[in-house]
Amino acid sequence: MIKANYPIQKFNEIQTPFYYYDLDVLRKTLEEINTQTQNCNFHVHYAMKANVNPSVLAVIKNAGLGADCVSGGEVQAAIDAGISSSKVVFAGVGKADWEINLGLDNDIFCFNVESIPELEVINELAAAKAKVAKVALRINPNVSAHTHHYITTGLSENKFGINMSDLDQVIGLFPTLANVKLIGIHFHIGSQITDLTSFQGLCVRINELQEYFSSRNVVLEHINVGGGLGINYEHPNHFPIPDFGAYFKIFRDHLKLQPNQTLHFELGRAVVAQCGSLISKVLYVKQGSSKKFAILDAGFTDLIRPALYQAYHHIENLSSELPTEEYDVVGPICESSDTFAKGFVLNQTKRGDLIALRSAGAYGEIMASQYNLRKLPKAYTSDELAR
Ligand code: LLP
Repeated sequence: MIKANYPIQKFNEIQTPFYYYDLDVLRKTLEEINTQTQNCNFHVHYAMKANVNPSVLAVIKNAGLGADCVSGGEVQAAIDAGISSSKVVFAGVGKADWEINLGLDNDIFCFNVESIPELEVINELAAAKAKVAKVALRINPNVSAHTHHYITTGLSENKFGINMSDLDQVIGLFPTLANVKLIGIHFHIGSQITDLTSFQGLCVRINELQEYFSSRNVVLEHINVGGGLGINYEHPNHFPIPDFGAYFKIFRDHLKLQPNQTLHFELGRAVVAQCGSLISKVLYVKQGSSKKFAILDAGFTDLIRPALYQAYHHIENLSSELPTEEYDVVGPICESSDTFAKGFVLNQTKRGDLIALRSAGAYGEIMASQYNLRKLPKAYTSDELAR
């Protein structure tokens, strides 16, 4: 069994549970993204919702990525991290007035608009500031992402985006709205997409829409295809960096960009998931009637993905090289859904062993809660622990 290389000595001195970010993995991931997108008109905005740990954000900012935000809090965090507002995009079906005003005050690159009423409000708020807001229409392309239904967003049954059947009406509105300028179209079909043909389907739909906009003499400066590239949760040690080459090639090969159009991406999970682990200690090993439970000091308050999406996270016992056994790996929270994995094969486990829940850099720390009045998990980076 291959195990990741962790500073276990240091881990033993730190109160568990905590998140550990391997910034070298993150840097290599970002290098790969930059290599695959250099010398072309591709721009990557990091989806802030995946993780806003300040050390992680600093590395992402230094790599030159922009930010994709879904709240005023995220817009502020991106700007506070030093990401230029000219690289900030702002999506979300329910933007409050203060959030729109924050975007306007900072002259962000683009509002990704999800409905006609929102477009009208942005126009009104921009007028009050004598500004013109740059907007892209988030279009619901009705393309399946073949992923978990909770993280599918591009089907007509989902709440996101403007339906294609409403586009005539929206385009007709622009001449009456003096304080918004249409600069692009935006899509996001879902998350943890591992079947890349889903993105191919998106390209086909975008090509059709480009013809539609051209036929109505609407010039689009950019296309934003959202995020969604999945990662390998089963084998994080073998596949620490997603196949960005194959991902970007899909768009290069299948999307017909017009001259001078830029292509924008909003990647979250693929950037940060593999650099993070949730480190926990075994509190007790309990013999059940037919199986053993390894009871950890981390629970779904620290990492909710298994409970919420039945997500798989690879688990390693960092303290044991003993022969393997099967365990239900569970947390201390008073709900049966507080289960990280059932029948998971681990090296023989005992109280005090350190456990790593892998691929937890995306939608881990940021989704933590204080249910049961538990403390929020702390976080450490490889840079800090190497000192
Ligand atoms: N752009 C938009 C408009 C989005 O809604 C999302 C994610 C992204 C970009 C980034 O997607 P990514 O590249 O990370 O797949 N909490 C869930 C994932 C929710 C994703 C929501 N939207 C999970 O833990 O799996």
